[in-house]
Amino acid sequence: MRVNTVLVLVAATLQVTSCHLPHTLAHECNKTIRSEEEGEGVVESPGYPGLYPTPATCTYTFLGASPHHKVQLAFTYFSLREPPLHLVAHERCLHTDTLAMYNLVNNYTRQEIDTFCGTSVPLPIMSSTPGLQLVFTAKPATSLPETSLLIHNGFSARFKFVTNLGMKSGQQTAPGVCQFLYNSTNAANGTVYSPNPEGYYPQDTTCHYLFYGRPGEVVRLTFKYFDVEGVMPCNEATDSDYLEFSNFPSADRKIPAYCGNVAPSIIQSDGTFFRLTFRSNNKFSGTGFATDYQFLDMSYQPYTIKKVIVMTAGGSGGYS
Ligand SMILES: *[C@@H]1O[C@H](CO)[C@@H](O)[C@H](O)[C@H]1NC(C)=O
Ligand SMILES: *[C@@H]1O[C@H](CO)[C@@H](O)[C@H](O)[C@H]1NC(C)=O
Ligand SMILES: *[C@@H]1O[C@H](CO)[C@@H](O)[C@H](O)[C@H]1NC(C)=O
Ligand SMILES: *[C@@H]1O[C@H](CO)[C@@H](O)[C@H](O)[C@H]1NC(C)=O
Repeated sequence: MRVNTVLVLVAATLQVTSCHLPHTLAHECNKTIRSEEEGEGVVESPGYPGLYPTPATCTYTFLGASPHHKVQLAFTYFSLREPPLHLVAHERCLHTDTLAMYNLVNNYTRQEIDTFCGTSVPLPIMSSTPGLQLVFTAKPATSLPETSLLIHNGFSARFKFVTNLGMKSGQQTAPGVCQFLYNSTNAANGTVYSPNPEGYYPQDTTCHYLFYGRPGEVVRLTFKYFDVEGVMPCNEATDSDYLEFSNFPSADRKIPAYCGNVAPSIIQSDGTFFRLTFRSNNKFSGTGFATDYQFLDMSYQPYTIKKVIVMTAGGSGGYS
């Protein structure tokens, strides 16, 4: 009883604070952030860390000055009023407060990335264009059932305009271009990630990872993580995002393409050069992949069969 009273008092105090908000909302709520003025920072719901006002519609527009920019957004807090409990997953966000995210094509045309609601903190997202828009919509206070959480403090996220797609390894060949070199002379082993590592990869993105071994070396990739949206045979015809491997600077049809949830376990090049290509389309995004790479000197192992090894942990993708 005592605990409940304290909670109600806290909520009441926050409510009083948020009552003053509507006067300043017009200035605070809709925001345009330009990379020239603020390359990185924090974006928050109105009144944060207090309760957000209801109803409310706030649009946050991020505009990168360079065509090479992408916007990376990582949430540190997310708590919107819970949707009615009986709804199925794809309907949950239709009847409650939401945060919708869009790529801005040519600065103004919206292309939806995803819409979030409830209290799970979304994974980091990245725009596929230099522009990103967030639309926060809070329904009127009375339109939600009593099962909705009383406490709704909104969201807080760090944003950053990047030209390297958030990559942590490899040498980018040009700003804004998703092409990274892995040179054995610089690092004999390491880890390669999909763009926006540990978050959802951006839509409509093609990345090439080029491996250059020293004479006599091959490269071996050992996958640690794999979540690439798609179904067999993992190509454009099946609306799939996919991962493709090649022993040449161009495509190599003898190695199957991969998508879905089952990673290729180990992939090895025939020779010193190897190319890994990741491609996402403009539909749903997964959380991508992480693979360790290791250059191996094969010049003293004449009996090793220098051939692509494709081993699969289970019914993964591939051309049948
Ligand atoms: C913010 O912009 C949206 C349209 O994007 C508009 O409907 C809303 O009224 C604006 N809110 C304020 C407080 O100006
Ligand atoms: C998009 O916005 C940026 C930054 O405000 C501007 O430099 C650029 O010209 C705009 N591009 C288009 C196509 O409107
Ligand atoms: C790899 O690095 C070495 C030493 O820095 C350099 O000589 C070589 O040209 C590099 N190879 C590629 C393909 O960039
Ligand atoms: C990875 O490379 C580092 C040096 O960059 C080396 O110290 C380490 O032994 C290598 N690890 C493996 C497993 O080869």
